[in-house]
Amino acid sequence: MKTVLVVGASRGLGLEFVRQYAAAGWRVLAGLRHPASTELPAAVTSYAIDVCKLASIEAVLEALQHELDHLVVCAGALGPRNQAFETPDPEEFDQVMRTNVLGPIALIEQFAPHIRPGGCIAVLTSRMGSIGDAESPFALLYRCSKAAANMAVRCAAKACAGGGPRIVALHPGWVRTEMGGPDAPLLPPESVTGMRRVIDDAEAFPSGGFYNYLGETVPW
Ligand SMILES: NC(=O)c1ccc[n+]([C@@H]2O[C@H](COP(=O)([O-])OP(=O)(O)OC[C@H]3O[C@@H](n4cnc5c(N)ncnc54)[C@H](OP(=O)(O)O)[C@@H]3O)[C@@H](O)[C@H]2O)c1
Repeated sequence: MKTVLVVGASRGLGLEFVRQYAAAGWRVLAGLRHPASTELPAAVTSYAIDVCKLASIEAVLEALQHELDHLVVCAGALGPRNQAFETPDPEEFDQVMRTNVLGPIALIEQFAPHIRPGGCIAVLTSRMGSIGDAESPFALLYRCSKAAANMAVRCAAKACAGGGPRIVALHPGWVRTEMGGPDAPLLPPESVTGMRRVIDDAEAFPSGGFYNYLGETVPW
């Protein structure tokens, strides 16, 4: 049975990935900070994962009973929304960088050996982490964290070349979630349907790439 682990599954894009994979008949494992307080589709197995707490990732790995086809990392933190170019508050810096950079690196390192041949690790980074595309200082800390996450994906893809899983960075588009806000033009189902297509198509979307939900390459 095809199996996916979605991390950051309590709401937003992560929850939509869970819904879509479950509806498609996959075995779905959901990693979230507070499993008891989230209603997930029936038959989804939930695990307590806080990506900032490495012990929680190791505990899930120990409890894992199935190899994975895909790992989708959705956990993310925005930090201060309207931050211009100014020194970040050190605590906010730690929280955003740990969530958006340390978490994905640890998840990739721990789970890569448990991805079946042909499988994929997808990390939701953001076009806001694109250096080539940056046209505004808005949300400095988030941008820096997602640029670092992009580099982590690229390095992981190199490290896993020659037998390891495919690893890609994904930009979901600007999506109406708690993070995207009410003005975002895109709804989670459309974004996630597009990202699933990228995750599944190894030929069109090779490892180490940065793609948006439409399958277009995003500049680093
Ligand atoms: N929405 C957009 O327009 C957009 C655009 C570009 C990129 N993205 C990226 O897409 C991903 C998903 O975004 P979203 O829009 O779905 O955001 P969201 O609605 O704010 O959801 C964020 C998710 O991350 C989880 N999370 C935060 N910190 C965590 C931690 N330490 N450990 C485990 N889970 C944690 C949250 O869990 P809790 O419920 O426990 O807080 C929640 O499930 C993020 O990485 C985001 O940066 C989103």
